[in-house]
Amino acid sequence: MAQAAQPGRPVYSDAPVRLFALAAVLWGVVGMFVGVFIAAQLAFPDLTFGIPWLSYGRLRPLHTNAVIFAFGGCALFATSYHVVQRTCQTRLFAPGLAMFTFVAWQLVIVAAAISLPLGYTSGKEYAELEWPIDILIAITWVSYAIVFFGTVGIRKVRHIYVANWFFGAFIIAVALLHIVNSAAVPVSLFKSYSAYAGVQDAMVQWWYGHNAVGFFLTAGFLGMMYYYIPKQAERPVYSYRLSIVHFWALIFTYMWAGPHHLHYTALPDWTQSVGMIFSLVLLAPSWGGMINGIMTLSGAWHKLRDDAILKFLIVALSFYGMSTFEGPMMSIKTVNALSHYTDWTVGHVHSGALGWVGMISIGSLYFLIPRMFGRKTMYSTRAIELHFWVATIGIVLYIAAMWIAGVMQGLMWRAVNPDGTLVYSFVESVKATYPFYIIRMLGGLLYLTGMVIMAWNTVMTVRSGKVAATPVPLAAAHA
Ligand code: HEM
Ligand code: HEM
Repeated sequence: MAQAAQPGRPVYSDAPVRLFALAAVLWGVVGMFVGVFIAAQLAFPDLTFGIPWLSYGRLRPLHTNAVIFAFGGCALFATSYHVVQRTCQTRLFAPGLAMFTFVAWQLVIVAAAISLPLGYTSGKEYAELEWPIDILIAITWVSYAIVFFGTVGIRKVRHIYVANWFFGAFIIAVALLHIVNSAAVPVSLFKSYSAYAGVQDAMVQWWYGHNAVGFFLTAGFLGMMYYYIPKQAERPVYSYRLSIVHFWALIFTYMWAGPHHLHYTALPDWTQSVGMIFSLVLLAPSWGGMINGIMTLSGAWHKLRDDAILKFLIVALSFYGMSTFEGPMMSIKTVNALSHYTDWTVGHVHSGALGWVGMISIGSLYFLIPRMFGRKTMYSTRAIELHFWVATIGIVLYIAAMWIAGVMQGLMWRAVNPDGTLVYSFVESVKATYPFYIIRMLGGLLYLTGMVIMAWNTVMTVRSGKVAATPVPLAAAHA
């Protein structure tokens, strides 16, 4: 697709960027539709219609895989391939391999969308896919690493911009996490057993699970933050020094926090305490990064008034700050005794997922998509504004409902009469949660509506735009 603008003049390899960006929008709609559907199932359990592959237990991992790995993953591939070329002022190393990563990643997604509803699962949360798909993921990821680090290697500028550090850490950490946690003994084509047993298995799983949050759902998106916020605000990063401290502190601390998912389990008590302490420490680098992103707007605050893309990017950071304050609080053992097993966790997850991951991806894609299709802006800027408000109201409904439901459930479960018997039966807590499930479903529906508006705007942008090759800046190309 990327033909030379002038003979002999190198151009950026943007074909994979375009394809991944469009795929992110498509999978966003699909994954969030499944989210709304399972939210509806929790309120109206008959929605399975007696069909096994529509059962909640099968569709829930389909939702998490679709939103995290298909929507989030494609957004990360698109933006990292875009950012690394621009900041290294060179085209992608091995563009053919980059196209391979696109095809292979879509194959992984389709295989997940078929195998999970059919009931094939390894039973590990966020790592449910069976071993043949795991191998394809590993091959894709190693190819991704070759393209990304190869591009950094052939850069035409001396400096490696901080966004690339975050993308790079995300790529290396995810390879490590995936390979270690997915180690398994296959017993047939569709069934395998974990290489670890008992409490070690749980420990490895949540070392993986928490770092999936830290590296898949955070570090890569921080890479987006460090490129697209300065670009959209037309201001340099507030403090470059802080961004480097932010990077090292964050990646060092995340690795140790996993045991907070296993409080009050058979895991040795000291391990749980280490997890708790590192989670509390994690507040500092997380907020350092958030402040650095928000303060980048210094002197440009007025732009927030009428720039909907900037609104997405800055509100994303506010949710990042909120969920990284809430997380350390929930990791305190006494707080976790109340929050664990309740919908508070689900509220925390979605303030991070819808607020941070969703909003930063959407804002970055709104910046990226028109530029990839030869336009200055999206087809409709009013639709971006509408999307912003619909999504924001949706998030507030979703997370407020889950917070109230979660604290209520926790308090109901621990309420005891003077004689030591329980005040409430479990089913009473389920009944009390019902109205909040309806509110969550409506909030989710609003968020999904915003995503459908984005899909329409994207189609119109692509149709009215023109794919044109962008030359690599001359001075840099010959530097
Ligand atoms: C329209 C938007 C969405 C809706 C309606 C929705 C709905 C849901 C529902 C109903 C659950 C199951 C909760 C339970 O088992 O009690 C869930 C789980 C989950 N969702 Fe979403 N979701 C949405 C978007 C997203 C996005 C964009 C992400 C990530 C980027 C995400 C990540 C997750 C994760 C990680 C879980 C598992 C939570 C846990 O195990 O505690 N969701 N979602
Ligand atoms: C400083 C940062 C953070 C800390 C210390 C933290 C801590 C926690 C804690 C203590 C839990 C509850 C564990 C349990 O009771 O089972 C949790 C769950 C979770 N958090 Fe966070 N969190 C942080 C940031 C985030 C962010 C930014 C996101 C999303 C983008 C996120 C996504 C999740 C998910 C998906 C779960 C549910 C895991 C599961 O049980 O399936 N967290 N987190």
